[in-house]
Amino acid sequence: MSWQREPRANGVAKILITEQELQRRIYELGKELDGHFGDRVPLFVGVLNGAVAFMTDLMRAMTIPVEIDFMATSSYGNSTTSSGVVRIIKDLNQPIDGRHLMVVEDIVDSGLTLRYLLEMLEARNPASITVVALLRKNKPDAVDVQVDFIGFDIPDEFVIGYGLDFAERYRNLPYVAVLDPSTIVDE
Ligand code: PRP
Repeated sequence: MSWQREPRANGVAKILITEQELQRRIYELGKELDGHFGDRVPLFVGVLNGAVAFMTDLMRAMTIPVEIDFMATSSYGNSTTSSGVVRIIKDLNQPIDGRHLMVVEDIVDSGLTLRYLLEMLEARNPASITVVALLRKNKPDAVDVQVDFIGFDIPDEFVIGYGLDFAERYRNLPYVAVLDPSTIVDE
């Protein structure tokens, strides 16, 4: 192919995880999850919007049969810090009792979204819940929440790209980057 990606978009202070590093780790996670589920057919529960890039790459890194569904939550609005309020904007399309769920999150920050989501899913009596998060922030005050598989532990900085947004932008970057703080002031 003759095309080349732009090395850096406006608003990017530094690239934290390159496209190649992401894809390599996601391939590994896919193999680990193949082994984890074995003969069980997981129902992927993708948490919109952030998890879209990760989920589509992760499911293609797996060889066992999987099914997919999506939920949408909102905790941040257009701010850079968590409001602590989690709202369900879109629910799953199907009942999940007896199903083996694979909850796919892009990032665990305060942990509030995931905690709320897991409580809600558990109440619907699935056979099991496995949680995979691409990123987990190193945050001492984060709530204790189940995460079974993690792509990368990252420092507590505002990250964008590969599904993660600032004011709904930057989700399309193929890498994970730290947002330039001057972008926040300008918005
Ligand atoms: C982001 C992210 C997680 C959540 C993590 O979602 O996708 O779902 O925040 O933060 P927490 O651990 O502090 O709860 P957001 O509500 O920003 O929606 P989005 O996925 O559409 O960006």
